[in-house]
Amino acid sequence: MAKTKLHKYERVKQLPNVTFSQFGEKTTPGSYPWFQAPFADMEKILELGCGKGEHSLAFAVAEDLFCVGIDIKSDRICVGAETAMAAGQTNVHFLRAPIERIREFFEEDSITEIWLTFPDPHLKNRSIKNRLTSPAFLDAYAHLLVPGGTVHLKTDSDTFFDYSRDSVEQWGGQIISSSENVHDDEGVILRGCGTVSAFDAEARSQGKAIKYMAFTLEK
Ligand SMILES: C[S@@+](CC[C@H](N)C(=O)[O-])C[C@H]1O[C@@H](n2cnc3c(N)ncnc32)[C@H](O)[C@@H]1O
Repeated sequence: MAKTKLHKYERVKQLPNVTFSQFGEKTTPGSYPWFQAPFADMEKILELGCGKGEHSLAFAVAEDLFCVGIDIKSDRICVGAETAMAAGQTNVHFLRAPIERIREFFEEDSITEIWLTFPDPHLKNRSIKNRLTSPAFLDAYAHLLVPGGTVHLKTDSDTFFDYSRDSVEQWGGQIISSSENVHDDEGVILRGCGTVSAFDAEARSQGKAIKYMAFTLEK
């Protein structure tokens, strides 16, 4: 394994703005930092599969909200968490956890927006259930979102985009905004609109269009 990656695995453990999930822990959602003072009453936004957290950092420029970036890879989280520390951004935090366990960390009806930023498309038939817009994940998002809360998806994968639209509609959700090429679409203004993450940049360097949709999931 590359030395720089190993260093990040060590450094990230010391960062005060990173929480590590433990398997089998008995903690309740309310005990995590994002539900504690002084953040308890702030609007909450989640970025799932945040990687290096470029979107979370951009969202947290608005000081009246609290953003949590979640990823399973702590070396990627390390980059975002160290950037937040260096910039003095206290309203962004990172959680190293599998998204499959997201209900353990957040209370019901507590999240305003959930962002899926370039989720793995899981193109093989046997892994379709792992797509972040498959029914079990939509159930979890509906549980966490406040009434009227929204899910936002950015992806360069046509397969994932088309699947997500069908999955949301079959679930009974409502697509409220959609674009086939969001970076060139003046009709869609996104939160943190100029944000270009590592995977966004990679896709665009290959000439791929970035697709976007926003949807609601009323229970
Ligand atoms: C394609 S990358 C996108 C990263 C970042 N959002 C970006 O735009 O550059 C997908 C990210 O999702 C994370 N991920 C995939 N499945 C996950 C899961 N089940 N739980 C937590 N993180 C996951 C990966 O570790 C990876 O960092």
